[in-house]
Amino acid sequence: MTRPALYVTRILPDPVMAAIRQQYRLISEPTDLPLAPNEQRKFFAQANAAICTLTDRIDAALLSVASRLEIVANYAVGYNNIDVAAARARGIVVTNTPDVLTDATADLTWALLLAVARRVVEADVWLRSGTWPGWAPTQMLGTDVTGKTLGIVGMGRIGQAVAQRAQGFRMPVLYASRRSCSSQPGAPAWTHRSLHEVLKNSDFVSLHVSLTDATRHLIGPRELAMMKATSFLINTSRGAVTDEAALVSALQAGKIAGAGLDVYEQEPTVHAGLTALPNVVLLPHLGSATLDTRVRMGMICLENIAAVLKGQPAPNRVT
Ligand code: DGY
Repeated sequence: MTRPALYVTRILPDPVMAAIRQQYRLISEPTDLPLAPNEQRKFFAQANAAICTLTDRIDAALLSVASRLEIVANYAVGYNNIDVAAARARGIVVTNTPDVLTDATADLTWALLLAVARRVVEADVWLRSGTWPGWAPTQMLGTDVTGKTLGIVGMGRIGQAVAQRAQGFRMPVLYASRRSCSSQPGAPAWTHRSLHEVLKNSDFVSLHVSLTDATRHLIGPRELAMMKATSFLINTSRGAVTDEAALVSALQAGKIAGAGLDVYEQEPTVHAGLTALPNVVLLPHLGSATLDTRVRMGMICLENIAAVLKGQPAPNRVT
């Protein structure tokens, strides 16, 4: 029996590629680099199923050539890269990879928060430069994290996982979200507030909304001006949730104390104003980047594809 034709836009971790090779006919050998749009079109036209990543723009024009395609499994929880309405109109199922990357992304959010508060990257660079003169009482002074107020914007799975970790730092949690939610039984309560209240009263503001028309530039000049001059902005969601130019201006003017960013408006381009600032920690979109997590994400894509190609409901179909 011929195996279904699968198009994988980028090379995935070995265990996932091994499972793919066992079950599917690969239309083309994926590499670590994005393909040119005309090549993508050629492969979409042949595929029964596709695994794509957040860097692939799956728009109506691309889907219009995909006459055999039954499913696009997005190798990410966010799916702002896909025109879901256009897929639905063509009867193509779109799935994502929720849950399996929640902890990895929440952990990385804390890595950024701690790194920017305690100047970890700046200090590491200084030490490696060979110019550290030895310990001194006023050297590289950072900001306390323990006991400070954590503000979370978007209290979905990842926002909640970030909030749970705040208990270890005895941090009160304020959150802005469409829905209210509760901390675990026995844990300190989280306080539901408007976005503006969260921005005004938090020492660290961490963004966890998905990118939609409603959340694009949710954090702009007005919102940044509401934050305390001593506060920090952390973003592991999507770059365009923040107006990056406004963030650079706010940082340059000292309207906020610093930022920890994993995501950017125009990846892989990063605003030159950000790279010039010492009080900003910048990571190359590593939220889910652990081997375990990236393998689990791949296996979820395969579960969804197997279900759809058998005519069954996809476990992670997006709305
Ligand atoms: C996601 O899944 O949306 C993450 O950004 C991937 O790292």
